[in-house]
Amino acid sequence: MTIRSVIRATGQYLPERIVENSWFEDKVDTSDEWIRSRTGIERRHFAAEGETTSQMAIRAAEDALNRAGMSADQIDALIVATSTPDLTFPSVATMVQAGLSLKTGFAFDVQAVCAGFVFALANADGMIRSGQAQRVLVIGAETFSRILDWEDRGTCVLFGDGAGAVVLEAAEGERGILASDLNSDGSYREILYVDGGVSTTGNAGKLRMQGNVLFRHAVEKLAETAHAAIDKAGLTPQDVDWLVPHQANARIIAATAQRMHLPMEKVILTVADHGNTSAASIPLALAVADAAGRFSKGDVIVTEAIGGGLSWGSVVLRW
Ligand code: UT7
Repeated sequence: MTIRSVIRATGQYLPERIVENSWFEDKVDTSDEWIRSRTGIERRHFAAEGETTSQMAIRAAEDALNRAGMSADQIDALIVATSTPDLTFPSVATMVQAGLSLKTGFAFDVQAVCAGFVFALANADGMIRSGQAQRVLVIGAETFSRILDWEDRGTCVLFGDGAGAVVLEAAEGERGILASDLNSDGSYREILYVDGGVSTTGNAGKLRMQGNVLFRHAVEKLAETAHAAIDKAGLTPQDVDWLVPHQANARIIAATAQRMHLPMEKVILTVADHGNTSAASIPLALAVADAAGRFSKGDVIVTEAIGGGLSWGSVVLRW
């Protein structure tokens, strides 16, 4: 029998503070209409002052463990995908481990920006299939509000904060992760980056993005990577029940679905309420759809994301 990594439960945490598009209208030269029509975003959550990425990740992890009916000591590895850690080190993952009062197993962060959760999920799957771990908590958590330039209308309206988590468990059978496809090309660094860091400026810096250039890469590369992962899984786009995309822009999501010949009824959309939460966006979308009972056992789900690096990828799984 084949050992696969099955999602046992999902979890989510969104900060209390909700900020509507209109909030930006007296800060920068923008409008609710522009943001809605160009991005599909209507509102986003922002972390409270003092609220950190690890605190949000702990809440999402607790929610996932509760829904799985598991205690933290049943987890033997913990991976957090984030580009906005509390501190340069230690990792957010070890802070989550401590927050769950867990003293066993191992914990580390993955940094692949908006593609971080896809990269973390693929790595967790590799560890489960190689027998290194039986149960892995995979979390995406971000406080992008801390790296936004509030004077740059091209970026500050796009992002939100939050955390999502899944409990992955080794199981025999046909359900679980079927295939993944990961890609990076560091020559595209200037398209999306943060202009500060430990070995350069010594401070965290602010997010810089060539939005329309990235848009074109996203539309092309997301469909490509999704097709590659579906192909590796021995499936075709006709077999796909749900697309759970990175939630950066509703127009990118629609264009990707169209290239995959998927009707929008098969696409999970949270971008209107969450904005772009980077590595948290896919686990949050999974958790929202799961909580709403939208997935059935055996459904084929495709996730895909692209972010700074550029890094992009896709994971295909059977629910
Ligand atoms: O999570 C990582 C992945 N991220 C992405 O995939 C994001 C990809 N990019 C995008 O989603 C879109 O490119 C944006 C939403 C960022 C921008 O939409 P766009 O349709 O590509 O617009 P644009 O950048 O080509 O800008 C069009 C116009 C410009 O004005 P001019 O030069 O035509 O006069 C911008 O200055 O829209 C202007 N603009 C705005 N106007 C009102 C840019 N931001 C805003 C704004 N409000 N917030």
